Amino acid sequence: MATIKDVARLAGVSVSTVSRVINQSGYVGAESHAKVLKAMEQLHFAPSDIARGLVSRKTSSIGLLIPDVANPFFSDVARGTEDAAIAEGFTIILCNSDWQLHRERMYLDLLRGKWVEGVIVVGSRSEERELTKAIGSLPFVLVDQRATSGRSSSVWMNNERGGFVATQHLLDMGCRRVVHVTGPVDSPSAAAREVGFLQAVKAFSETSGERLEARRVPGDFRYDGGYRAALEWFGPESSADRRPDGIFAANDLMAIGIIQAAQSLGVHVPEDVSVIGYDNIAMAEYVAPKLTTVDQPGYRMGQAAFEMLHRRLQTGVNQQESQEFEPTLILRQSTRRMGSLREE
Ligand code: RIB
Repeated sequence: MATIKDVARLAGVSVSTVSRVINQSGYVGAESHAKVLKAMEQLHFAPSDIARGLVSRKTSSIGLLIPDVANPFFSDVARGTEDAAIAEGFTIILCNSDWQLHRERMYLDLLRGKWVEGVIVVGSRSEERELTKAIGSLPFVLVDQRATSGRSSSVWMNNERGGFVATQHLLDMGCRRVVHVTGPVDSPSAAAREVGFLQAVKAFSETSGERLEARRVPGDFRYDGGYRAALEWFGPESSADRRPDGIFAANDLMAIGIIQAAQSLGVHVPEDVSVIGYDNIAMAEYVAPKLTTVDQPGYRMGQAAFEMLHRRLQTGVNQQESQEFEPTLILRQSTRRMGSLREE
């Protein structure tokens, strides 16, 4: 079987030049590039799909990088992307970074080496500039993050509005000791939800003249994070005045963790505390009480991202596109007006 050294020898270039061609990174002159491709073909150096892709530059595959394969919101995005991709004859290579920056970088390098035609990056916490550098020359679409540079396209949600709507709902229910469990610090969507929370609190305080306690608690978008936070508020150590009567969790998994912990300590949701989540994952329907939440249409966002990337691949035009989705409040059983009787 031929090695990278054989390719370099036949092409008359260095091994590092061959490696730059394979990984699509760094500069390689047009003539050397062509010689390397020819040598690879002659030596049957790469597996057939990749080899064909190297010659035609078309592999009909894209990379999809998500941060947490166990989070149903990201599975929805992945399904939307995959269904749209299959409909156009594309396959996807799914990569899970587990919210880790070094894994994100590793996968982006790897995807370039697989000669995918483009990449969709979901929920990244990297700076857009860093991402653009890591992706190299491949076309890409960001999901869950509003692109700011001319090179990037994005599909995202109006998270500021979503945070506002969720908080406003708690205030409308009569909650006056509200807590917002945020997402991780470097998540752009979490930061925008937090802005929405603060805006709603400010608007209420300015217009109502009523006393309102509002605080923020750092969260991590995981079930366990929500569970732990609620144990602190409702555990035996906690004083009654520390107990919130309304909680806005920055995603559904944390909201479900909060509800489970509260219930394990004999705190009733929504009688003692109203809880609202964010995302509207399928599980929100199945937990007891059913979760009130803000809908973020992950499946449609995934579809939209692929369609955007596909348009870019078809036309070859490097044009920035963006699509914003609006939040919808989904009323279920985990919130209710303070002091009202349960509606069966
Ligand atoms: O549930 C995961 C959350 O992280 C989603 O709300 C999504 O917007 C992402 O940022």
